[in-house]
Amino acid sequence: MIPALVQSGVAQCVAVASRSHEKAAETAAPFGAEAVCGYERLIERADIDAIYVPLPTGLHAEWCTRALEAGKHLLVEKTFASNAAEAAAMLALARRQNLLVMENFQFQTHSQWSRFRSFMDSGEIGHVHLVRSTFGFPPLPRENFRWNAALGGGALLDTGAYMAKVSQLLLGPDLEVRGASAIMDAATGVDSHGEAQFRNARGQVAQVAWGFDYFYQCRAELLGTKGKVSLGRVFTAPPDFAPVLCIETPEGVRNETLPADNHYINMWRRFAGAIANGDHAAHWDAIESQARLLDAIRAAVRA
Ligand SMILES: NC(=O)c1ccc[n+]([C@@H]2O[C@H](COP(=O)([O-])OP(=O)(O)OC[C@H]3O[C@@H](n4cnc5c(N)ncnc54)[C@H](OP(=O)(O)O)[C@@H]3O)[C@@H](O)[C@H]2O)c1
Repeated sequence: MIPALVQSGVAQCVAVASRSHEKAAETAAPFGAEAVCGYERLIERADIDAIYVPLPTGLHAEWCTRALEAGKHLLVEKTFASNAAEAAAMLALARRQNLLVMENFQFQTHSQWSRFRSFMDSGEIGHVHLVRSTFGFPPLPRENFRWNAALGGGALLDTGAYMAKVSQLLLGPDLEVRGASAIMDAATGVDSHGEAQFRNARGQVAQVAWGFDYFYQCRAELLGTKGKVSLGRVFTAPPDFAPVLCIETPEGVRNETLPADNHYINMWRRFAGAIANGDHAAHWDAIESQARLLDAIRAAVRA
């Protein structure tokens, strides 16, 4: 995200904070930024308008609250909060302070996403009845925060969050959870994979699955009355990657190669644009509905 910020040209990377001075210095140096030891030192600076928060989710409530109290706009890594109540408290503060908070799901700014999404309404594959998506990867080392409940670990908050986001972007924000399950890791007590089904008021359905112990999958597909479209690397397309969209209809299978794009740069432009235009409300609302859906998935798992 830092190289993309510099390349975006929309803002200057003034300073980088870490709990360790050495780490801050090593990270800041290539960008000519100042190294700051301790997050509080960064927050208290008057020469900073906005902060990018790439901390583990379980630490967002403390540090985002402190940054909002200090009057900073925030680009916060997904997942924004450990639960909807935590998200609501931070959003209430952002609204009171009229500060932008945006959750960093950069995939929605990639040009491949616009092309993929266009099939929802274009009629090219008829009426879309079903959205399917999967995001999963092989297990990370046990010391990774994703295995630590206190730091906001667990597959739902990490990879499942993409499933909630992609389903809302395609089917609308008010989704009913029709069923969900989660497998718990006995050693750590966090969920290691799960699956869910959502439905919107028009009867369109999303079937999604996510997990830490998967053969790498990062895919979405749309099934319509006249065809099917699928896209790999939907959430993680690197800047030099030319995505390939696969369109299947009764006439045959067609692959459409799309241009490479840099969704990290696009995200910074979206963030800076929203600050410049005072366009905060849509981003507050998106975070709120995302956090509510994640809570509803957890409730369905328990039911
Ligand atoms: N949008 C995306 O594509 C994307 C991709 C990957 C991750 N993420 C999100 O980014 C966030 C961080 O994920 P990550 O994989 O980058 O995590 P990470 O490397 O484990 O943690 C990021 C940083 O958090 C700081 N930190 C503060 N207290 C910590 C603690 N108790 N334990 C571990 N780290 C601590 C550390 O910085 P210092 O030591 O320098 O203080 C660390 O380098 C998560 O919310 C994740 O979901 C988003």
